[in-house]
Amino acid sequence: MNTKWIAPSILSADFSRLGEDVTRAVTAGADMIHFDVMDNHYVPNLTFGPLVCASLRKYGVTAPIDVHLMVKPVDRIIPDFAAAGATYITFHPEASEHVDRTISLIRESGCKPGLVFNPASSLDCLRYMIDKIDMILVMSVNPGFGGQDFITSSFAKIRDVRSLIDKSGRDIRLEVDGGIRTSNIREIAAAGADTFVCGSAVFGTDDYVKAISSLRGEAEKA
Ligand code: DX5
Ligand code: ZN
Repeated sequence: MNTKWIAPSILSADFSRLGEDVTRAVTAGADMIHFDVMDNHYVPNLTFGPLVCASLRKYGVTAPIDVHLMVKPVDRIIPDFAAAGATYITFHPEASEHVDRTISLIRESGCKPGLVFNPASSLDCLRYMIDKIDMILVMSVNPGFGGQDFITSSFAKIRDVRSLIDKSGRDIRLEVDGGIRTSNIREIAAAGADTFVCGSAVFGTDDYVKAISSLRGEAEKA
């Protein structure tokens, strides 16, 4: 199993001083920065695009940036995020007409591709695509907003994904996104997750060092 990564989601950060807030999270121990891109079309909310990613790189953020695309269509924006300094780019298979092509485009752009599954989405396409991706993201809330409650049916899905990853023998990160807190991260890790998106549980607190270390401590007990 991979080492556990805590990936704070900037959806809950202070946008009026984003560079500073993200740097605080990285200094506090964040392994990766989760970057929620919403288009008010695929999901009912609107956030930020490649310009903001490029600005964080320019500001000096060197941690991996995990771009979670909640946009439709997907392909047009991929080269822009690659140029802006994205590390991982994940997308929802429902949002792309040609999932295999989108995965290739992400890889050819120099980024690591991943697939995202909504709470009600089936894992079918993994049967064919698992050899081509570096991350599987299980949504444990319906995408669009921070601060929602963890949907408990996600535990079964995380276990299913863990077993598919283990069978594949490939180095694929199993990321979970939505409603992760110190109170449930241990159980989420025990189900097989190794990468934890935490928006409000980090940026919604005053002490990022304390938040990240207690999340990591609980995850590592699994
Ligand atoms: C929801 C986003 C999440 C969100 C998680 O669409 O994908 O990344 O920021 O926020 P919390 O951790 O507050 O549930
Ligand atoms: Zn996300």
